[in-house]
Amino acid sequence: MNISGLCLFFCLIFTIVSCDEHDHRYEDGSEVVLWMNTVGPYHNRQETYNYFSLPFCRGTKTEISHYHETLGENILGVELEYSGVEINFKRDKPRTDICEKTMTPEAYDELTYAIKNHYWYQMFIDDLPIWGIVGEMDESGKSAFIWTHKKFEIAYNEDRIIDVNLTSEAKVNIKPNTVLKFTYEVIWKPTSIPFAKRFDKYLDPGFFQHKIHWFSIFNSFMMVLFLVGLVSMILLRTLRKDYARYGKDDDLDDMERDLGDEYGWKQVHGDVFRPPAHPILFASLIGSGYQIATVSTLCILTTIAFDLYTERGLLFSTAIFLYAASSVVNGYAGGSLYARMKGQLWIKQLLVGAFLVPAIICSVAFLVNFISIYYGSSRSIPFTVMLSVTAICLFIILPLTAVGTVLGRNISGEPNVPCRTNAVPRPIPEKKWFMEPNVIILASGILPFGSIFIEMYFIFTSFWAYKIYYVYGFMLLVFLILAVVTVCVTIVATYFMLNAEDYRWQWTSFLSGASSAFYVYLYAVYYFFFKTKMYGMFQTAFYFGYMALFSLGLGIMCGTFGYIGTQAFVRKIYSIKID
Ligand SMILES: *[C@@H]1O[C@H](CO)[C@@H](O)[C@H](O)[C@H]1NC(C)=O
Repeated sequence: MNISGLCLFFCLIFTIVSCDEHDHRYEDGSEVVLWMNTVGPYHNRQETYNYFSLPFCRGTKTEISHYHETLGENILGVELEYSGVEINFKRDKPRTDICEKTMTPEAYDELTYAIKNHYWYQMFIDDLPIWGIVGEMDESGKSAFIWTHKKFEIAYNEDRIIDVNLTSEAKVNIKPNTVLKFTYEVIWKPTSIPFAKRFDKYLDPGFFQHKIHWFSIFNSFMMVLFLVGLVSMILLRTLRKDYARYGKDDDLDDMERDLGDEYGWKQVHGDVFRPPAHPILFASLIGSGYQIATVSTLCILTTIAFDLYTERGLLFSTAIFLYAASSVVNGYAGGSLYARMKGQLWIKQLLVGAFLVPAIICSVAFLVNFISIYYGSSRSIPFTVMLSVTAICLFIILPLTAVGTVLGRNISGEPNVPCRTNAVPRPIPEKKWFMEPNVIILASGILPFGSIFIEMYFIFTSFWAYKIYYVYGFMLLVFLILAVVTVCVTIVATYFMLNAEDYRWQWTSFLSGASSAFYVYLYAVYYFFFKTKMYGMFQTAFYFGYMALFSLGLGIMCGTFGYIGTQAFVRKIYSIKID
């Protein structure tokens, strides 16, 4: 299968992590492994702990002790441990003991706490996730009951496992200093569902393919058509008028020009290609934006092609791999832009460009990790993973960025602007409040945000609640729509700015594009308070930390879209000889 090929590829890349994905085929009677993963409060999806951190016990078999995780799984907090429960392919098992556990007062307190907080646990059989609830409180909320019997119903099709259902039975009231006996049973059933369709039961077409979803895509699409039409109409008309006025030059005497017929954007032709403030940061942001856009596009396309979401952590590993590999793009875009702006400190730019995004991600991850170690969560990132991430940064990202930068400086590092830049910057005239860059920047984010916020709801829900996002075709559409809307809106915003004789368009176009991410973050705050029931410091920090990262990445990407579009537009309108 292609997936295994891909997996092998990753194994070669991340030699520190080993992959032991089997081929999902079993002989009659051969061992089927039940992996215990994590346990945690239902409402806090990311606050997970190792299953055996609660006073549960293992079965008697001990051959396999720990599963070797891939880098992606490791970062996502997957901690598979062997349950010690014996299951054999196509062999029914009557009710059998797993183990007994004495309820010491501490164990009793821990379990009661877990049951009060609606703890759920997750297991895997043959890579299929299974969820179960630890227990229930009685009506009065005073005494805790725990489910002690696990009934597995497993459906098979020839030599493959298709479906697993878990039923929790035998509710027992827990009391200190008693003995709890855990049991299980296994029932095998034949089915005709093909292996390729076994993941379908986890997907929720009723949620994702809802009319609202289709409608929102349609709506955004209409908006794009309208916006593109509007932008091209306004600009064509205005520009034609401007050009026509300018084209009359030959007929009119020069007097008229000297008397100030030039107005608006043409006035600033001597400043418009002046490099922006903070060129190193600017070039690095644009380079990173190119890289993030590349990674997102490739991730969406590979997921559409290979259904990456069916394998634990695979999408995440793919994203890390693609990010590292696309550092060349970052170096090329950032380095050549910096060279075109006649920047001299190119090594500094190279370092800033290579590590800007990784450094931000690592610092947020570090803070969240700190809290998660304090909580003892399975989300805390092991030292070996930190080492391998550092190794990827130093030995893959840095050299590839350097290669990209050198290529970029040599291939397209020549400044090739259509107008000369005056030696002395022109003063920027006073303007109305709504023409101030900050106002324009904030206003530009509204339309792009409007085109994506329904998709944001679906993405947030699948990440923070128990849904698997699988409609990557929708995502691709929305991604394209977002890019087009952002470009249109920033072009209009820049045109207004230039007409107000404010020539600082580079940062403004970047920030106008990026500002939709600010609204996404505001929406995330709303979502946290009104759509989820998360609580506790760990989950809250995790939510706001990673949402900030998400918004930031989105912002850098959209800002880059805005800059790319505007830059082409500005070159176009100034490329008719003006001076
Ligand atoms: C699991 O439950 C679903 C829904 O109740 C049912 O359609 C399916 O056949 C069950 N699978 C097995 C193996 O019992």
